[in-house]
Amino acid sequence: GVALGKMLGDTGLITLDPGYVNTGACRSDITYIDGDAGILRYRGYPIEELAQNSTFVETSYLLIYGELPNKQQLETFTDQIQRHTMLHEDLKKFFDGFPVDAHPMPVLSSAVSALSTFYQRALDPFDEPNVDLSSVRLLAKVPTIAAYAYKNSIGQPFLYPDNSLGLVENFLRLTFGLPAEPYDVDPDVAKALDMLFILHADHEQNCSTSTVRMVGSSQANLFASISAGINALFGPLHGGANAAVLTMLEGIRDNEGNADEFVRKVKNKEPGVRLMGFGHRVYKNYDPRAAIVRDTARGIIEKLGGGDEMLDIAMRLEEFALHDEYFVERKLYPNVDFYTGLIYQAMGFPTEMFTVLFAIGRLPGWIAHWREMIDDPDTRIGRPRQVYTGPTQREYVGMDQR
Ligand code: ACO
Repeated sequence: GVALGKMLGDTGLITLDPGYVNTGACRSDITYIDGDAGILRYRGYPIEELAQNSTFVETSYLLIYGELPNKQQLETFTDQIQRHTMLHEDLKKFFDGFPVDAHPMPVLSSAVSALSTFYQRALDPFDEPNVDLSSVRLLAKVPTIAAYAYKNSIGQPFLYPDNSLGLVENFLRLTFGLPAEPYDVDPDVAKALDMLFILHADHEQNCSTSTVRMVGSSQANLFASISAGINALFGPLHGGANAAVLTMLEGIRDNEGNADEFVRKVKNKEPGVRLMGFGHRVYKNYDPRAAIVRDTARGIIEKLGGGDEMLDIAMRLEEFALHDEYFVERKLYPNVDFYTGLIYQAMGFPTEMFTVLFAIGRLPGWIAHWREMIDDPDTRIGRPRQVYTGPTQREYVGMDQR
């Protein structure tokens, strides 16, 4: 909706658009979404083709630099990432400062923010080689930080990254490996996780990406901006939804698989009760990422020996919602988060790590947008207006008269 706001000392016309439903904040070459048709493309390439043929590292290059890399470019990029996976020993001490049951998301955002203190000489947002280096450092170190946050929470020692491994393989080993035992990465798990990261890699002006751009518009450095994005992702209406879906499905399972009571609460709009993993600001059709995840879920869950029970509940819930008047009327379809949690759980990740996995996946998108924003001559500091609704001028009232 648009409202007129009378602004003292100003031109007087303000577009009021809570949640920015119809307000564009920038031009962007990175990602195209047609929400009505259920289309998603990165740099013009359909998400389905990237999910099938690309890798997360290659897709990261595509998002950040705009083109698919040639062989040499990919080798160099991969090599750079592999060489930057280690954390400064002093940064590792950070993890001791958090409570043992610390949620890994704030640990991740704090550690990413702290990275800027370790690389103070490489923070100039307009120095491209420095921005390249910061981008690589983030892509390489965020999976290491994420794995350490997990290890810390279960009281296990940190492993050093193995730079002969690819990004996803390294992350799996750092997460699930033990110092004295060899860890063989399951190639099917690595491939599935790599594909899930591709699906999460960008989604134009979502809440966390807009946050990265907003913070960066003040010319704050890349680490500071990405740390802010991680915090935005933490919320249950955004990246936190993948964890919330699992909690919801477990609740239904523990109620003997009966979803009626839950659905009734959703439809009655009881505060805070929503069908998690459903609905999207932009998609008014099936989220193409959700379709890919759903088609992959059963194979990988069965291979890993996870129970199908929860997947069956999820599919029944989807089937119900797709034919129920409430959801049909509002064009609510499964979004990317509806099925991912079930796969992450089968892979052995605890629920708290689900949103961290989303953050690893979304990282190249955040980096690409920050860089596009910094390079764009139209960028101005993000500074929305408001329609003031408080009291007009009042006279100060002394304490004895209140
Ligand atoms: N369950 C039940 N009702 C819903 C849901 C849902 N998941 N999502 C939207 N609705 C209803 C709203 O109550 C509203 O109904 P009304 O018109 O009668 O008032 C209508 O659908 C429109 O919803 P809004 O909240 O206005 O839609 P908005 O675009 O602001 O929100 C959002 C989008 C946040 C994704 C919302 O659909 C939601 O909360 N979904 C559940 C959380 C979730 O899955 N988030 C992940 C998003 S995707 C991502 O981050 C990868």
